Amino acid sequence: MQDIKSIIRNIRKDFENEELHELHLPDQPFEAFEMWMKEAIEKQVPEYNAMVISTVGKNMQPSSRIVYLREYEKDVFTFYCNYNSRKSKEIEENNKISLLFYWIPLQRQIRIEGIAKKSSVGKSKSYFLSRPYENQLSAYASNQSQKISSREELMRKFEEFSQKFPEYPVPYPDFWGGWDVEAHYYEFWQGRYSRLHDRIIYEKVGDKWIKGRLAP
Ligand SMILES: Cc1cc2nc3c(=O)[nH]c(=O)nc-3n(C[C@H](O)[C@H](O)[C@H](O)COP(=O)(O)O)c2cc1C
Repeated sequence: MQDIKSIIRNIRKDFENEELHELHLPDQPFEAFEMWMKEAIEKQVPEYNAMVISTVGKNMQPSSRIVYLREYEKDVFTFYCNYNSRKSKEIEENNKISLLFYWIPLQRQIRIEGIAKKSSVGKSKSYFLSRPYENQLSAYASNQSQKISSREELMRKFEEFSQKFPEYPVPYPDFWGGWDVEAHYYEFWQGRYSRLHDRIIYEKVGDKWIKGRLAP
């Protein structure tokens, strides 16, 4: 194999997708999101609901990780996690958040920026109860983002909780739930030839969405 550093430096891929024209996109960005999500599902893009979320706590250090988008309604995107996790603590300190989808087979990226708020207990509970038994137990066994001594410690806790809660469904834990992200900015990026990509943005001004285009 060639030197890895030189492979990374020199790899180049041209995109040859169709034009993304502002006139072909709906006035409501949420409708554009649904259009693209539908296409990602139809074209069986792997992990189409995986998104990178970035948070910045009070120490001003951005941190990113992938989570699954689980629910959405107009301009509100929901993911679920432990409320004691690093990401949840950072959101508590600063509720500004960004979401990013990258769909390689479609050469598309969607950026969303917004404000995160805890989902209602009813919504979190209803989603928790829809999860498989093992996933419900792992919410109890994993004190997400805390240091642990070994994998055995995690497995021991999983076993303990499976004895404590032998039946499905496991009771809803109040330290676990959803974050609803209300969007105020969207960008739809379509890869094109010669790095002349299309970038269509929507910015919320008052209660109206203003569409624009950015240089790639
Ligand atoms: C494909 C994929 C999907 C994931 N989905 C979730 C999720 O929905 N919720 C979650 O809490 N973590 C999810 N994770 C794990 C997170 O990336 C991360 O490791 C975890 O949430 C802890 O992050 P934190 O310490 O910054 O809070 C997922 C990871 C991958 C690779």
